[in-house]
Amino acid sequence: MAEPLAGRHVLITAGPTREPIDPVRYISNHSSGQQGYAIASACAALGARVTLVSGPTALADPEGISVVRIETALEMLAAVETALPADVFIAVAAVADWRPAAPSDTKIKADKASVSSLPLVENPDILKTISHLAKSRPGLVVGFAAETHDVEALATAKRLRKGCDWIVANDVSGDVMGGAENAVTLVTPQGSEHWQRAPKGEIAARLASRIADAL
Ligand code: C5P
Repeated sequence: MAEPLAGRHVLITAGPTREPIDPVRYISNHSSGQQGYAIASACAALGARVTLVSGPTALADPEGISVVRIETALEMLAAVETALPADVFIAVAAVADWRPAAPSDTKIKADKASVSSLPLVENPDILKTISHLAKSRPGLVVGFAAETHDVEALATAKRLRKGCDWIVANDVSGDVMGGAENAVTLVTPQGSEHWQRAPKGEIAARLASRIADAL
């Protein structure tokens, strides 16, 4: 089998992040990690060396891939920076936008008055950070966008705002979140392409082969 990504390092983030409130509670989201893991496997199948920086998921480590398990957005950013240099960076993770400003070392009691307000601070934007690296920016940086409407226009704006090269936009107006299929628009500097609704594994294979063509 041809291995068009042989000798390439592909760095991928996947899954949710988990932001602690105290030792037993956290803020997170419903990301399953499926799409990111499928892309990692598809790139490995084309011969790439793949590093997958993953938040907590129920998925097993894909074979032949170096998986770095993290919990928080800050840990995800640090793990990504440690894994550089890479030829390609693909940000698939659903990073929590906010984290509790001062997680408690001890379990917050339910009767405590301070529970009524939880100060939050913004997490770093990992995709934007990596897109703007001066020296070690990967040659191809790919972001994801989940939109329910105006998918193409919003994804085009997001590509410019984040500073990445491509955006893979999910139409999440259906049951894509946590589901087995995805409907995607690929936005590149050359324009946009609509890909038909397909299993996440097929979307992953198609993206991996587009990446191989682009390098
Ligand atoms: O801004 P939004 O969350 O819609 O952007 C989604 C894209 O940005 C995804 O590629 C996601 O992995 C990435 N992202 C990130 N770090 C964040 C927020 C989003 O890498 N803090």
